[in-house]
Amino acid sequence: MNEKSQEAPLSLALPKGRLLDEIQERFAERGMAFSFEKRKLVARDESGTLEIFLVKNSDLPTYVNHGIAGLGICGSDVLYESEYRFFRLKTFDFGGTSMCIAGRRDEPFSLDKRGVAVATKFINFTRDYFHQRGIPVQIIKLNGSVELAPVLGLAPYIVDLVETGNTLKANHLEVKKKLEDIHVHLIANPSYYKLHHRKIDHFIQMIEEDNHE
Ligand code: PRP
Ligand code: MG
Repeated sequence: MNEKSQEAPLSLALPKGRLLDEIQERFAERGMAFSFEKRKLVARDESGTLEIFLVKNSDLPTYVNHGIAGLGICGSDVLYESEYRFFRLKTFDFGGTSMCIAGRRDEPFSLDKRGVAVATKFINFTRDYFHQRGIPVQIIKLNGSVELAPVLGLAPYIVDLVETGNTLKANHLEVKKKLEDIHVHLIANPSYYKLHHRKIDHFIQMIEEDNHE
């Protein structure tokens, strides 16, 4: 065991899903390789810097707010929907997506004051976006597979993340308007940061290191 691994590790919540592979790769390149044994949701990295919890994307702010995980990595989309406030310590250069309004390819679209009906997971973002522009919005909350809504007629439009555009394309939908760029952030519970700022700053230096293979 090296000197570092004898100290208590920093606690970090990571989201299940497509960000995880990218994070795993970046951390491995910087001496913090980790993996989860089959069905396990807790792991340590090889350097002893981190104890990592694998959580559902939308639950990540809850774990960090309660200090169960002192740190977390998640998108600004998830932060927007959360009622909690965090320190944003770093914005990553990977995992960027766009929040878009999308609908059927054969459905004409214009944003006007007559209002719009949308299905979405992102109810805070959607409400604020349209209300700030004086456009009435009727929101139908879904928890996933949102692209089905215009296909099946639940709502003519969706507000959702678009990365490659493949999901829209496969369902005969298209982006009608890009609403906002979404970035991935390292967040901290404010009290946890105050207690562990030296170690956290060192961890940030490690993830920013360029001298990997
Ligand atoms: C996300 C998002 C879109 C899709 C965008 O869904 O909600 O559906 O990915 O990616 P693409 O533009 O590369 O196709 P996710 O796969 O996370 O599933 P969920 O919405 O059912 O949770
Ligand atoms: Mg989806």
